[in-house]
Amino acid sequence: MKIFLDTANLQLIKEYNEMGLVDGITTNPTLLAKENNDPIEIMKEIVRLVKGPVSLEVVSQDYEGMIDEAHRLKKFGENVVVKIPMTSNGLKAIRRLKEDHIDTNCTLVFSSNQAILAAKSGARYVSPFIGRLDDAGHKGMNLIKEIVEIFKNYNFDTEVIVASVRHPLHVISAARIGADIVTLPPDVLAKMLKHPLTDKGLDTFNSDWEKVKKTYPNLIL
Ligand code: E4P
Repeated sequence: MKIFLDTANLQLIKEYNEMGLVDGITTNPTLLAKENNDPIEIMKEIVRLVKGPVSLEVVSQDYEGMIDEAHRLKKFGENVVVKIPMTSNGLKAIRRLKEDHIDTNCTLVFSSNQAILAAKSGARYVSPFIGRLDDAGHKGMNLIKEIVEIFKNYNFDTEVIVASVRHPLHVISAARIGADIVTLPPDVLAKMLKHPLTDKGLDTFNSDWEKVKKTYPNLIL
């Protein structure tokens, strides 16, 4: 399972990237708006920092506008994936960008039907938003199960990015289903890493080792 970070925060991207945990990045206009810096500069810097695919989203909703923005975004680096919303203009743009050899990530996917259309249009990735479905009283993870099954049935090479992830249990469920990628807010990744028993165990090892050092003061490990 690949782990993407769902953020535009350069500090956090650097931190997790140095740990080797970042297979890719997804951003969106909301995430960029949270950072107090020029969004164009932020996007360029993310593309420079991270080796894997970096999804940068178009803001136009008309076909021509999406195509122009996609080509401009792609100039930021080879690893740019253009995020296109799940609309009829979006599907048209996905098809055209495939012909132009630009990878796309179809975003704001909330049903298996939308995922099928995105895959048939040539999207490299689809991003079903499970947390927002949960918020609306649906079982977001059921959608992932369905899409993974359907893509397997037809050997679609479109990868499923589990998006709008809210907590570590989402990650486990997505992994059990066999989803290709999860894109995680940094705080979810931080929670995956931590366990109170790990901290407790480490404290005990440290204090026991201090006792050993009292008996053998010249001890070097
Ligand atoms: C995915 O690419 C989106 O950026 C993201 O997961 C949206 O999640 P949200 O529902 O937390 O805004």
